[in-house]
Amino acid sequence: MKEKALNSIRILAIESSCDETAAAVVENGRQVLSNIISSQVPMHTLYGGVVPELASRAHIEAVCPVVEEALKAAGLTLPEIDAVAVTYGPGLVGALLVGVAFGKALAFGLNKPLIGVNHIEGHVSAALLEHPDLEPPFLCLIVSGGHTNLAYMRDYGDFEILGSTRDDAAGEAFDKVARAIGLGYPGGPKIEKAAREGDPAAIPFPRGKVDEAPYDFTFSGMKSAVLNYLNHAEMTGETVKQADVAASFQAAVIDVLVSRAMHAVKERGEKRLVLAGGVAANGALRGALKNACDKAGVALYVPSPVFCTDNAAMIGAAGYYRFRKGERAGLDLNAVPYLELTE
Ligand code: KG4
Ligand code: ZN
Repeated sequence: MKEKALNSIRILAIESSCDETAAAVVENGRQVLSNIISSQVPMHTLYGGVVPELASRAHIEAVCPVVEEALKAAGLTLPEIDAVAVTYGPGLVGALLVGVAFGKALAFGLNKPLIGVNHIEGHVSAALLEHPDLEPPFLCLIVSGGHTNLAYMRDYGDFEILGSTRDDAAGEAFDKVARAIGLGYPGGPKIEKAAREGDPAAIPFPRGKVDEAPYDFTFSGMKSAVLNYLNHAEMTGETVKQADVAASFQAAVIDVLVSRAMHAVKERGEKRLVLAGGVAANGALRGALKNACDKAGVALYVPSPVFCTDNAAMIGAAGYYRFRKGERAGLDLNAVPYLELTE
């Protein structure tokens, strides 16, 4: 058994909301003892996106070995775990159900507490893993495949939403544009790679804005602008430079994300900003936001890329603070596909 301080809490966390089956052991919400991710990306690549039914089946196959590996990597056995945390929403219902059912069975069998965790709260909590001094309150820009929010984390598990996307999420826009320009799935990393060879100023794609809602986002107009550009080029016989489209689209998305976040920072007089979610793995976005924060004297907290995309360590971090508040889920815990951050 690994040595453990008397009051320390070790949480076994499980994440299965989309296309990664993940398990992790996290101590006291901050120290990652293990972080195992089984990605389904190669399987879904064949279909150009996540196929929900296939995702659920792959989670069923992966969940047991992934949990075993997480325990092994942490050097622990099941009885040495203090609680089980599991993502119960938002996400694909069939995918979520696998983790929820597994987490419930495990907690019941071990007679240990069960904690239900909101996936988006998990993304924000990823910043806690590598920044031991970071405590709420702080502002957060959350950019994932399903969500785009500007939020204020008042306390652990307590959020105020300042703005959201009116249509596509930022990651969704990356994925759709990648498909349109022939890069395929998963779109975000492929656009980032292609953009390195392109000119971000080549095509002036619009910077979508929502009138009188300075913290809201809209990406569907940018996506349509890319499609119109491609159609026009096809009709006129112009050659499309894939790298220029990728770089120009990425630049437009980054401009919008950075400007909204910096507006919120300024208006609210906040000095700390967390960047979270899968799109936060994007190097150009990380760099642009860092520059803007440096200029404004704001401290930016960004998780390492492996903690930006879906993982269970972030669920262990969020779960720990819910555990400390005394929150416990019952065996009636269910998957909630449209779970809100403020629920
Ligand atoms: O947070 P996440 O792993 O899953 C959800 O909760 O949705 O986010 C996945 C999204 C996908 O849309 C993916 O294309 C995007 O994050 N993404 C990126 C990058 N890596 C992942 N977008 C831009 N650049 C990246 N490097
Ligand atoms: Zn996610």
